[in-house]
Amino acid sequence: MISYKELGLVNTRAMFAKAVDGGYAIPAFNFNNMEQLQAIIMAAVETKSPVILQVSKGARNYANQTLLRYMAQGAVEYAKELGCAHPEIVLHLDHGDSFELCKSCIDMGFSSVMIDGSALPYDENVAVTKKVVEYAHQFDVTVEGELGVLAGVEDEVAAEESHYTKPEEVIDFVTKTGVDSLAISIGTSHGAYKFTPEQCTVDPATGRLVPPPLAFDVLEAIEKKLPGFPIVLHGSSSVPQDEVDTINANGGCLKAAVGIPEEQLRKAAKSAVCKINIDSDSRLAMTAAIRKTFAEKPAEFDPRKYLGPARDSMKKLYEHKIINVLGSNDKLIEK
Ligand code: G3H
Ligand code: 13P
Ligand code: ZN
Repeated sequence: MISYKELGLVNTRAMFAKAVDGGYAIPAFNFNNMEQLQAIIMAAVETKSPVILQVSKGARNYANQTLLRYMAQGAVEYAKELGCAHPEIVLHLDHGDSFELCKSCIDMGFSSVMIDGSALPYDENVAVTKKVVEYAHQFDVTVEGELGVLAGVEDEVAAEESHYTKPEEVIDFVTKTGVDSLAISIGTSHGAYKFTPEQCTVDPATGRLVPPPLAFDVLEAIEKKLPGFPIVLHGSSSVPQDEVDTINANGGCLKAAVGIPEEQLRKAAKSAVCKINIDSDSRLAMTAAIRKTFAEKPAEFDPRKYLGPARDSMKKLYEHKIINVLGSNDKLIEK
């Protein structure tokens, strides 16, 4: 059993309380490799932002949970080396699907876990979430639960259809489980294809697809039931169209990829939403930069020559999200 505190990591409690009060959201960026992690830490340090490093089940399978944990531990030291005396870095399990997985992460130094029982019948979701909370809280590890189902067409967390969170269930769920934060469904979804073209309208000026707005009425109803309680938004990539264009112009084929407009995320961040999950935008930035290098320099074969520009591009993206969308810059707790 290793405590995250020995690794210099923090849990989400204090940073969420400050974010709810301050009307901003903490970035939760997924990472699977060194370049993503370096870009996240450089961006967080330069913008003086707290940050949540997310590890999904897919990331664990790809990169190995132990290696990812040591990378996160290294990230704390790296942040200090970059000049941040007291970095606020959370290592979080994204979409944990069982008590055993959450326990294994807690035991090896994660400071926060998500138990995603959203696809289960309500009572089973309550039971498994409560079990994780009871274990996690013994070690001061914070827990995110989820109510409502996000639609998605990609990855291991996909569901056919979305079901908005029912505001009438949230008090019961939070009270019975003791969770520290609650992920909700208000129209976001995972991946780069968040809406079908049929669900969108077309902007006559640009010809781009315009997605339907998020269900802010549902968010407001949840906030009324749980004043000041930390709310989480998954599936919050915006799918920047310039990155999609760069990918498509350099041999890629992403058709009708569409995300959540950043103004809507900014609006959500000003409310009780205090954690916003972004993964796909980083994948797009990385892929666009690599494709561009391959197209422009076909003789290049040193990975640093294409992963380097990809890292620069992701860093720019993370800084933009922190400063212009989530508003978490300059929000480190003063020591
Ligand atoms: O919520 C899903 C994240 O984007 C992680 O995706 O399961 O492909 O690693 P992944
Ligand atoms: P995106 O696919 O929109 O980046 O969502 C990521 C996410 O919710 C991770 O849990
Ligand atoms: Zn998610």
